[in-house]
Amino acid sequence: MLAAYAARLARADPLSAREVGPRPDPQVPDGWSRVHLRAAALNRHDLWSLQGVGLGEDKLPMILGCDGAGVTDEGREVILHSVVPSPGWSGDETLDPRRTLLSELYDGTLAEQVVVPTANLVPKPESMSWELAGCLSTAWLTAYRMLFSNAGVSPGDTVLVQGAGGGVSTALVQLGSAAGLRMWVTSRDEQRGARAVELGADRAFASGERLPDRVTAVMESVGAATWSHSVNSLKPGGTIVICGATSGDAPAKAELTKIFFKQLRVIGSTMGSISELRRLVDFVAREGITPVVDQALPLSEARDAFARLAAGDNFGKVVLTMNDATGD
Ligand SMILES: NC(=O)c1ccc[n+]([C@@H]2O[C@H](COP(=O)([O-])OP(=O)(O)OC[C@H]3O[C@@H](n4cnc5c(N)ncnc54)[C@H](OP(=O)(O)O)[C@@H]3O)[C@@H](O)[C@H]2O)c1
Repeated sequence: MLAAYAARLARADPLSAREVGPRPDPQVPDGWSRVHLRAAALNRHDLWSLQGVGLGEDKLPMILGCDGAGVTDEGREVILHSVVPSPGWSGDETLDPRRTLLSELYDGTLAEQVVVPTANLVPKPESMSWELAGCLSTAWLTAYRMLFSNAGVSPGDTVLVQGAGGGVSTALVQLGSAAGLRMWVTSRDEQRGARAVELGADRAFASGERLPDRVTAVMESVGAATWSHSVNSLKPGGTIVICGATSGDAPAKAELTKIFFKQLRVIGSTMGSISELRRLVDFVAREGITPVVDQALPLSEARDAFARLAAGDNFGKVVLTMNDATGD
């Protein structure tokens, strides 16, 4: 089968480490299912993997990809949950210290086929397009948990999203505005801010700009570049939910004094549980939300898709599509 995989690790030049070519069809262990993929979006995680973050030399070659939707051998149309708990784990799988994401220990979804634990399959609503379904498992699930499980906000509250164009940021704006939250975004680029407003954000500000009011919660995925602004933008008692640090995890100031003096809550957030994925899928289908897709390319053009993500030019998700019809 065709797949996009990490052939080596390259911290400085991750694009040099990705290959697109044939890989053996996967074997199906007991309790697992084969999915013939139809669509799978890329995530920053795929670039981190090529840089050796969370992926060791001993696991190479590794098929990349954490998002995905497709058809099982039995003909079920499914969306994949990417968090694989260790055997015997019960409860929230994201809290399992030995959990793993597809593409870390087991091959990922940027391929014509993938195998996953059968318990990790969520039914795809019939009306949902493959492209849309292939976007939900990672950035969208992360945004759902950040906003609805961890932020402690109610409709009418104002929520600041740091960054406008990334997969997590666009998902936050689309989910939050559909839920009646007033979503504000920052961006380094005026046009990207304007696009976020078209998507449902109430207002867009330049990165680091002083806001007209303090907000109830900040959704942070940029890290070092925006950390001080996130702390300064919150009301007393407000919440920062942090899921990533694209610009680095060592801010110039930790802002510890402001954090305790304003009694802020800082909450780490990683992916979501399979029950949150089910609720996300229902919410998106019921509200008619269409995740913003920057580009959809065939799997054979995965090199271009990676280049777009690495350049930071994408606004929304970059999706790969697969035409393997053997699951029909
Ligand atoms: N914990 C988890 O489970 C989880 C899940 C998904 C993602 N993540 C992490 O969350 C982060 C975001 O992921 P993503 O998929 O949305 O992709 P991404 O490509 O890392 O997101 C780029 C976003 O960050 C902003 N940005 C980047 N550098 C910036 C800088 N120097 N200053 C200000 N803004 C900057 C961009 O905003 P503008 O271009 O509009 O300025 C854009 O919105 C990544 O670090 C990823 O690893 C974590």
